[in-house]
Amino acid sequence: MASRYNETYEAWKRDPEAFWADAAADIDWFKPYDTVFDPDAGVYGRWFVGGECNTCYNCLDRHVERGRPGQPALIYDSPITGARKTYTYEELLAKVQAMAAVLRDGGVEKGDRVIIYMPMIPEAVMAMLACARLGAIHSVVFGGFAAHELATRIDDALPKAIISASCGIEPGRVIAYKPLLDEAVAQARHKPAHCFIVQREQVTAQLVEGRDRDLGALMADALASGRTVDCVPVKATDPLYILYTSGTTGQPKGVVRDNGGHMVALKWSMSNLYGIQPGEVFWAASDVGWVVGHSYIVYAPLLHGCATVVFEGKPVGTPDAGVFWRVISDHNVVALFTAPTAFRAIKKEDPEGRLIADYDLALFRTLFLAGERADPDTIKWAEDKLGVPVIDHWWQTETGWAIVGNPMGLGMLPVKHGSPTVPMPGYDVRVLDDAGHPLPAGTLGNIVVKLPLPPGCLPTLWNADERFRSSYLAEFPGYYKTADAGVIDEDGYLSIMARTDDIINVAGHRLSTGAMEEVLSAHPDVAECAVIGISDQLKGQLPCGFVVLKAGVTRPHAEIEADLVRLVRDQIGPVAAFKIAITVDRLPKTRSGKILRGTMRQIADGQEYKMPATIDDPAILDEIEAALRAHGIVGES
Ligand code: COA
Ligand code: AMP
Repeated sequence: MASRYNETYEAWKRDPEAFWADAAADIDWFKPYDTVFDPDAGVYGRWFVGGECNTCYNCLDRHVERGRPGQPALIYDSPITGARKTYTYEELLAKVQAMAAVLRDGGVEKGDRVIIYMPMIPEAVMAMLACARLGAIHSVVFGGFAAHELATRIDDALPKAIISASCGIEPGRVIAYKPLLDEAVAQARHKPAHCFIVQREQVTAQLVEGRDRDLGALMADALASGRTVDCVPVKATDPLYILYTSGTTGQPKGVVRDNGGHMVALKWSMSNLYGIQPGEVFWAASDVGWVVGHSYIVYAPLLHGCATVVFEGKPVGTPDAGVFWRVISDHNVVALFTAPTAFRAIKKEDPEGRLIADYDLALFRTLFLAGERADPDTIKWAEDKLGVPVIDHWWQTETGWAIVGNPMGLGMLPVKHGSPTVPMPGYDVRVLDDAGHPLPAGTLGNIVVKLPLPPGCLPTLWNADERFRSSYLAEFPGYYKTADAGVIDEDGYLSIMARTDDIINVAGHRLSTGAMEEVLSAHPDVAECAVIGISDQLKGQLPCGFVVLKAGVTRPHAEIEADLVRLVRDQIGPVAAFKIAITVDRLPKTRSGKILRGTMRQIADGQEYKMPATIDDPAILDEIEAALRAHGIVGES
């Protein structure tokens, strides 16, 4: 069957407002919007202005009211604890109402912020939906971030409450969350009124008198007394959530997502991009702390009336590299969405894919990959072993859904390995040179999106319109800067090659080298430093820090390097995977003093490099290479 992609994309181009009005008919509005798009509202315009709605209503209530009360909505599968539980739409709605009642009793109201710092348990999803029900704005912080990162987000979002759990569980260790939470609240200037804690059986958290509440016990009471909470109508343009993502400094960016446009875009994507029918089981093996988790564990599958899988485990080691196939088979999953790194991990453990044969994958149709570059080897391996289409797609926390993908629902386009395929309707993607001139097909440049961004994308940064403008809109007037570099080929296919800023991608996790440099330079013995991302076969990239010590420092280098590794883990978190700190005498710089990070990266990756014309002292590059060799790093990947 020929793909309807071209006609659909053209229809959007001809009349974007009619296109999105049509998509908006799939959403229940409490009050219809006045205009599909108001170019004069907000920083670059706003979608569905004047409309009123509630995201939780669209995710739960309407499915209960219209024929899906007994259908599975949330399937919790936790190989790390052995727990499993399925919630129907009706059961999930009851739980969410109970949690909303508890939050409201604690003073949480429309517009209040609530931070959610949770492991992958059903209560994390319930917490997001309960906030949405109340019109409160949630901000989920990934459990692998340390107390300091949590404190930074508390001071930016100023939450009325924090929802957390007694612990998270990683292979081989239980991580008590409460001490991290207490430390974060102690560090933050802003103090939340309440912390609601889910007590898990592995660890019982000490509750602070007056401030902390046992969320499970309170929910049980609310359920027993049949408490219900109506959905609070919010404006389509009101924020649903803030999700902090790495910027070039230690101060993360608070990406704002609205209610109306977000629902319209995600609902559209489920049928047209992912090719999923309501009632089917969709699994995004990510974490609710990332945008993939927000959009495709929680909101999109539920908006679409699907069952979503909440998986608390790893692709390997819980207990083996067959766990993905086991979950697909046990729960009738039709599509899996994960990061390529997960498949690299599986391929390393089970290169022949032998474990696949142990499971019935008859219903499994498509594997979707995103979050980092999908290397052709990994794609080919997955295609061969699974015998289903493997679809790479490219997007960012900022956009909330795919910029570029292969629209399975409209009819799959031919796959070109290494390319996430073509722009989705809503995105007019261009490649520009540094001066903002369009580049011909096949030429590497800055990938930008012509404004306005489609529904679902960020309208601004939390309390930071100016930072939004300067970070994303200023460099290429009239366009959104993605900060990714790439090419568009003669067929209109995009390839994403690299970031143009200091963001690195470690196991599908987006991290700021600038933030790591801030931690290193705060060490009393460090005079200056540079952190780069070096290639890694499993995680894609790994951070590698170089430090120059202050004159007169006599402590052994190895001791200082160990300090630095510990500091990054303590301040940013284990997710940074910062394990390499190297002391050098000097850093290579241009004559104007700019550190040559790109050249250092090429040396570390064993690539050919051109001597930068503006380099101050070329001999320093040899010193860097020698230091990397001494650590067994050059060209290791
Ligand atoms: N809470 C606390 N610590 C966490 C955590 C959490 N929620 N998530 C990860 N960590 C810790 C890990 O235990 C690990 O600690 P360690 O340094 O003591 O080993 C560290 O953070 C790095 O974690 P991770 O990046 O997950 O590496 P890993 O070696 O444990 O596993 C993979 C490697 C490839 C299996 C794993 O990264 C993976 O499954 N990636 C999928 C990526 C993904 O889902 N991306 C989201 C976008 S789609
Ligand atoms: P995040 O905001 O965490 O989703 O990270 C977004 C960044 O991850 C993008 O700007 C890209 O650099 C990278 N990325 C995400 N998906 C892909 C993909 N399919 N191919 C290449 N890079 C990707």
